[in-house]
Amino acid sequence: MAIKTRAKLAVAGLSALAVLQFVRPGIPSGPMIAEIHVPPRVRQILQKDCFSCHSNERRLAWFDEITPPYWLVRHDILTAREHLNFSTLGSEPVAMQRATLFEAVNMIQLGAMPLPVYRLAPGREGDSRGVDGVEGLSWAMELC
Ligand code: HEC
Repeated sequence: MAIKTRAKLAVAGLSALAVLQFVRPGIPSGPMIAEIHVPPRVRQILQKDCFSCHSNERRLAWFDEITPPYWLVRHDILTAREHLNFSTLGSEPVAMQRATLFEAVNMIQLGAMPLPVYRLAPGREGDSRGVDGVEGLSWAMELC
């Protein structure tokens, strides 16, 4: 392929990407509605490793904001909130909160959460990795 043609293709590709940046459906955000009463260390881990998908906070890194990846990130966040939202969990009955925390710990232990794709980015290997089974169990028990 001639160099000129390649250059034209590159320009066309870049322009298309630039245009795609405007195709950006929103990610609704909102306040913490009901706090969960867990020890500060647990709160900190959840906030750092889980809130970006499982809360009403909008916590995107700059590279999450670039489309097309942005669409996938948005989809993950909306799905994650449907399953578990730490911004509203505190309004559930305590037994329900305990069960949810227990499930959350299990997901961490299984390596299923935070979502593996999320951990790919540097600096996101996560504090939750250090949570062992014994500590994890206490999360649910210490909830008050
Ligand atoms: C990058 C986004 C993302 C992050 C970060 C993340 N999750 Fe998730 N989580 C999801 C998605 C998406 C689902 C739904 C999975 C599915 O349907 O397959 C989910 C599902 C779950 C579920 C299952 C809920 C149910 O009802 O089945 C639990 C529990 C969970 N996550 C806990 C956590 C915990 C704990 C953390 C932090 C250590 C975390 N997640 C971090 C995206 C994320």
